Amino acid sequence: MRTQVGIVGAGPAGLMLAHLLYQQGIETIVVESRSRDYLESRVRAGVLEQGTVDTLNESGVGERMRRQGLIHLGIELSFSGARHRIDMHELTGGRAITVYGQQEVVKDLIQARLDAGLPLHFEVEATSIHNLDTDAPKIRFRKDGTSHEITCDYIAGCDGFHGISRPAIADALQIFERVYPFGWLGILAQSKPPSEELIYCHHERGFALFSMRSPEVTRLYLQCAPDEDIAQWPDARIWEELELRLGPEGSLPEGSLNDESLHLEEGTILQKGVTPMRSFVAEPMQYGNLFLAGDAAHIVPPTGAKGMNLAIADVRVLSRALATFYQTGNNSLLEAYSTTCLRRVWRAEHFSWWMTSLLHRFPDATPFQQRLQLSELAYVASSRAAATALAENYVGLPF
Ligand code: FAD
Ligand code: DHB
Repeated sequence: MRTQVGIVGAGPAGLMLAHLLYQQGIETIVVESRSRDYLESRVRAGVLEQGTVDTLNESGVGERMRRQGLIHLGIELSFSGARHRIDMHELTGGRAITVYGQQEVVKDLIQARLDAGLPLHFEVEATSIHNLDTDAPKIRFRKDGTSHEITCDYIAGCDGFHGISRPAIADALQIFERVYPFGWLGILAQSKPPSEELIYCHHERGFALFSMRSPEVTRLYLQCAPDEDIAQWPDARIWEELELRLGPEGSLPEGSLNDESLHLEEGTILQKGVTPMRSFVAEPMQYGNLFLAGDAAHIVPPTGAKGMNLAIADVRVLSRALATFYQTGNNSLLEAYSTTCLRRVWRAEHFSWWMTSLLHRFPDATPFQQRLQLSELAYVASSRAAATALAENYVGLPF
């Protein structure tokens, strides 16, 4: 097999790249180790930045998102027994986020690819990549017991954190990493969300996040141990813990609780899982004719919802660089790919680390550090300058 750009992985990065390149008349083959059904039902991120929404719309795959996505103009922070709204729309001159599940984005992109009749191979695992510093790099995979090869001009490693692309160039990379001493237990439930906007809760029992997928389906997260045993969390315990973290804390000053109390409606839990949390960046995001994009190159802790948005931003840069090369022969944008992406990546790394540090209970935090955390929360909730910094990062900086 031969193609212009071989793409390993059909997550948001690989699928979006294939779609953007198709629109530029560039040939691609996508190989994905999992089944279509698995990809379309894997519950992950849910918050799209304005720039991600624009990218989906401009490339003609935004129709269902425009109908079903929920536009949010603000978020709430809950701490010390009170809730505070951050009006992102007003603070950012009219920008907003859209709540629309990652697996819905994936469904829309798979459908567009299949409608165009273009190659997308499910349940095909790339086993290795070769000849990266030549002009004919190769992807090797096994199917039906035999070995196959795709010869490409370029390879895009969009195979996530546990893929094969980044390890193939490990010797050429510098790694920056931080592992957090907690994870998130996430559930998807058939019940009305407690609020129309997302609520990020700082609580003495640990962080909680109240999000949603639709007016009838809620997505909720609880801070837990990084290796938490999900078997220890029967449904009743999850609801009880969520209720506690949405409510007041133990030692509140009199009268500090908002009188408007929230109602957490319990419903059938459709899915649950534990995600450990880390910050990770591999530099540079390119070696020879291999380009890494999305989680293959970087990971953020989920607080602030940047993971999928960064994946889309990377492939936007890569698709433009490849289009320029194929149209003009000029490879300067390809050479600048890593530097261009890393500027946005490091901004998102800092923001996600900051949101994580602001909102979680750190097992080894001293009383001094706990007071600093509360002081910073109070500052974000009361200062227009501090709230604007949160808001402009949250909605996503312009491309
Ligand atoms: P992925 O979505 O991981 O896609 C990579 C694809 O490559 C996968 O489909 C994989 O099967 C395939 N692949 C891997 N190896 C091979 C191979 N050898 N051959 C062929 N195919 C291969 N972000 C948020 O913002 N909010 C959240 O709540 C959130 N929750 C998350 C929960 C979990 C459990 C995980 C893992 C991530 C979560 N994220 C979240 C992060 C977000 O989902 C990712 O940033 C996003 O999926 C990145 O997209 P990607 O295309 O780069 O990688
Ligand atoms: C969701 C996930 C996040 O990481 C976040 O910060 C906000 C919302 C979600 O899955 O809905």
